[in-house]
Amino acid sequence: MLNVEQVKERFLQYARSFLTGTDQDFDHGIKVKIAHTLRVLAVMKEIVKNQDFEEEEVKLACIIALLHDVGRFSQWQKFQSYVDTDECNHCEEGERILRDEALIEVFVPETRQYDEIILQAVKWHGKVSIPVNLPQKEKLFCEIIRDADRTDILYLASKEKEFDFLFAHYADGDKKLNPQIARLLHKKSPVNFKFIRNKMDILALRVSLIWQYTFIDAMLYVKREGYVEKMIALFEEKYPEYDQSDLNLIKEELQEVYGLFDDEDP
Ligand SMILES: [Fe+2]
Repeated sequence: MLNVEQVKERFLQYARSFLTGTDQDFDHGIKVKIAHTLRVLAVMKEIVKNQDFEEEEVKLACIIALLHDVGRFSQWQKFQSYVDTDECNHCEEGERILRDEALIEVFVPETRQYDEIILQAVKWHGKVSIPVNLPQKEKLFCEIIRDADRTDILYLASKEKEFDFLFAHYADGDKKLNPQIARLLHKKSPVNFKFIRNKMDILALRVSLIWQYTFIDAMLYVKREGYVEKMIALFEEKYPEYDQSDLNLIKEELQEVYGLFDDEDP
């Protein structure tokens, strides 16, 4: 039997072992990821509520939420950065720690039955797409953690303090939306980081998360909470010099998708 509370305790013990107690900036970086993980766990509990999952599958989803960013701590320790590079991608780092350092046996001592599902979910949770040939069960749990993770990104972007952190370091350039991104929005395709040139492009990338949801309940949760609208409103307030017609286009693309689900709101 899986035990979520035990995994949570062990995860917290592991993550807190990176705290120095002396270097405040360094410790802040660790605490940010602990807080993110706990929020993703809370969102995961919301998502699985309405799914036709067995009790053990619910627990597995919660354990994946707890472990999905386990690679962030050593990434921060080595680079003091959360930017994924060829040298260190936190998804692969997480898989490596769990598999090669056998930490999965420490976090989940009860059974080896779910190892491959957990490892694949950790490995693919932050990639642009997941392999088409993943077995069905692995794919399901990959998709669910991707949805929970996306939800937390949109939550953060809707909060004023974190909004600045998520947007401020991007350039301004011509203050217009990259036309290639406009085409992707129109097709309701994902927006890849390679198209990002300015703050409006990153806004569009974040809006495009909405049509990448697999679990519609998770997307409807974001819709109900108004995270994306709040993010766009903050953008308008903070960057009024950006092209208003491009901003309207982004809003229209969002409403087009949200409109499809108007009847499903309680
Ligand atoms: Fe992640």
